Amino acid sequence: MSGSVIGNRFKIMTWGESHGAALGVTIDGCPAGLLLSSEDIQKYLDLRRPGQSKMTTQRSEKDKVEILSGVFEGMTTGTPISLMIKNEDQHSKDYSNIADKMRPGHADYGFTEKYGFRDYRGGGRSSGRETIARVAAGAVAIKILEGLGISIVSYTSAIGPVKASSFDEEDIMKNPLFMADLNAAKEAEAFVKNCVEKGDSVGGIIETKVFGMPPGIGEPVFGKLDASLAQAMLSIGAVKGFEIGDGFKAAEALGSENNDEFMSENGHVIKKTNHSGGVLGGMSDGSDIFFKVAIKPTPSISKEQNTVNDKGENVSLVIKGRHDPVIVPRAVIVVKSMCALILLDALMENMTSRISYLEDFYGKK
Ligand SMILES: Cc1cc2nc3c(=O)[nH]c(=O)nc-3n(C[C@H](O)[C@H](O)[C@H](O)COP(=O)(O)O)c2cc1C
Repeated sequence: MSGSVIGNRFKIMTWGESHGAALGVTIDGCPAGLLLSSEDIQKYLDLRRPGQSKMTTQRSEKDKVEILSGVFEGMTTGTPISLMIKNEDQHSKDYSNIADKMRPGHADYGFTEKYGFRDYRGGGRSSGRETIARVAAGAVAIKILEGLGISIVSYTSAIGPVKASSFDEEDIMKNPLFMADLNAAKEAEAFVKNCVEKGDSVGGIIETKVFGMPPGIGEPVFGKLDASLAQAMLSIGAVKGFEIGDGFKAAEALGSENNDEFMSENGHVIKKTNHSGGVLGGMSDGSDIFFKVAIKPTPSISKEQNTVNDKGENVSLVIKGRHDPVIVPRAVIVVKSMCALILLDALMENMTSRISYLEDFYGKK
């Protein structure tokens, strides 16, 4: 299976299945000299962990990270960093009654057609558990970005039809849905509870703001920053849409409305507005980066569904297992992590964009 690697300079490969012995990530290209402990990573894994509220699955996964390589005396060595998380609360037998059935909304049919057979226990590589590895690697990237004065805030802006109408960053950690509007969060919680009672699920929207990104980062043709962000976001299971800046709304605007005018303020170039979402021509434009992702409703629902089995016969399907009625809150940290990985990779790539950067570094003036 290819397709498990992302990044050019800060490159990661995730590995492992949801019901295998463990899963994890190898980071290749992390600079030496970064102070790194398992706590730096664990705090983000805990945000993704299920079983913390009725909004998420009641699987009690511990998801404890172990640093296997690349760190010596608390510091990165410049060699590959391998991070492992053991699978502990997996109930493979929950899946035995659906082993030969294609779950609607899941990757089962594609996997079977592609490889000739599939790991039916929780979807294998296409399970949401794969994102643990992304969060572990993302934690390292976030730490490096913080040291460079770049911060990322991701939060839920809608759950089903319930949309946030205000933004207070401090509220994000005060509700289980990670919304930045406590009133909307209450309404959204009630909406989710109602869905659970009906054996159904719901989706939502996650927004991300990046502060402190310098201008000119991103590679202008196939490595555009917005294109890389879109690829990273759409690679997360259940993400069905990506918009940067005004996104689809830009299609309705006039050029005079959509263009962000530049102006000089105290010797700095700034923009009057930010319809672009902080990226122009595939490079950061110095404003805050702003993008949204749309998450579909959790495909595993407890309602009876119609599908086909491996023989192509029509059958009915009841999914047992323990599933999130809504993926959105657990995906918030996954979005932030993927964003950090893309930004850091782009920043590192940019270090060879000018001959003067090389000359300055190697001392040849
Ligand atoms: C953090 C996270 C957790 C997820 N948890 C579940 C889950 O408990 N049950 C489920 O049916 N899908 C879950 N998913 C989504 C499926 O993995 C995904 O929808 C499925 O593999 C099909 O892929 P697609 O939706 O990208 O087409 C989760 C996704 C993420 C990002």
